[in-house]
Order: sequence, then structure tokens, then C-alpha cells
Amino acid sequence: MTEHLTVVRHPLVQHKLSHMRDATTPTPVFRQLLREVSQLLAYEVTRDMALTTRRIDTPLQAMDAPVLDGPEPALISILRAGNGLLDGILELMPQARVGFVGLYRDEATLEPVKYYFKVPPLEGRMVFVVDPMLATGNSSAAAVSMLKEAGAVNLRFLCLLAAPEGVARMRAAHPDVPIVTAALDARLDARGYIVPGLGDAGDRMFGTK
Ligand code: URA
Repeated sequence: MTEHLTVVRHPLVQHKLSHMRDATTPTPVFRQLLREVSQLLAYEVTRDMALTTRRIDTPLQAMDAPVLDGPEPALISILRAGNGLLDGILELMPQARVGFVGLYRDEATLEPVKYYFKVPPLEGRMVFVVDPMLATGNSSAAAVSMLKEAGAVNLRFLCLLAAPEGVARMRAAHPDVPIVTAALDARLDARGYIVPGLGDAGDRMFGTK
């Protein structure tokens, strides 16, 4: 993957995203759409996974058939909203190892602080980090730094929506980590929400508001 930012403009992705943005879309529909979009975005973010071949017999003849190479990929959810992307992607990659990163913002220093970090061994794996909203990029950049400290080298970042500020933050901190998203929105508002956005992704998918 050579692009730092890939916006998936596929009509199905854009159609589903518009329904997710609509404030009248109820939680169960939002969650189902997120699952569907996660799979379409996963198709893009996994496109350069390595292949090898395995000798198989079709009913007609032997062939060297392409199969995934290398160790199982790692799928890392940034809590809590990242969990909304997990199940759909795991359906496509059931072999993936799964990890979780939980961060909160220290009100005094404004720095992200780790409160939960449980990941599989990352050395040698493709690592897919998932979080629906790339807003300021502070927590995403911090999470990726923590994953690199834990041994990750080959990372991709998958989100549903990105703000220019978040993309710039990630590009500055982690130029080696390609980002795949369904849309690059206009800006952040004063509270750090993506505009036009879809509101708080966690609240929308878990019905907490
Ligand atoms: N997180 C969200 O859930 N929504 C935003 O708009 C920004 C960050």
C-alpha cells in the first residue's frame, strides 16, 4: 500500500455511510451498517496481504492455488468504539489474533494515558488497528506508538471517518502507517467532533445516549 490515505469511494460504502450519518438512524441499524461497512473497508485495507501458493487438487486437475502467507494477522481495537468494527472483520479473517488498547485523556496534561493494553505477539505480523473516528489523531497516534513499542512493524489503520487534523497528526507521527477510511470530512468542531460527522460513534453503536 503506497498511499498514506485511501478514501474508499465505492457506492455501497458511501450509501451505507450516509445512513449512518443520519441522526434518525436507530442504534440497531447503525450497528448493522457499521458491520457491513467494516467488511467493505477491510477488503481495501487487506489488499496487500502476502500470498503464497499451495498445491491442491480441483476435481479436474492439480494446481498451485493462492493462499494467505505468513503468520495470522493481528486486529487491534481501540476501545470502545473500535469494537464496532471487530466482528465484521473477524468474519472475513477468522484466523486473526485480537488485541485491545484502552486510552483516556489526562485532564491535566491532555496526554493519552493507557488504562488497558492486551495484545497478541506482534513481531512479524500484519497489524490492523481499528477505530471508527480519526478525529484529533492523538489517541490513534499514541496507540500506534504503543503497538510499535510492543513489536509491531507492519501496521495499517482502518477508520470509518477521518478529519484532516487526524490524518495530519498520523502522517506526522507515523508516516509508515497507511490509513483506509470511508470519508475525509471537513474539520473538527471546538469539542473535537468530526463535522459533518455522525456524532459520537460509541454512543451511536451502543445506545449510550
Ligand atoms: N469520536 C467520535 O465518536 N465522534 C467524533 O466526531 C469524534 C471523535
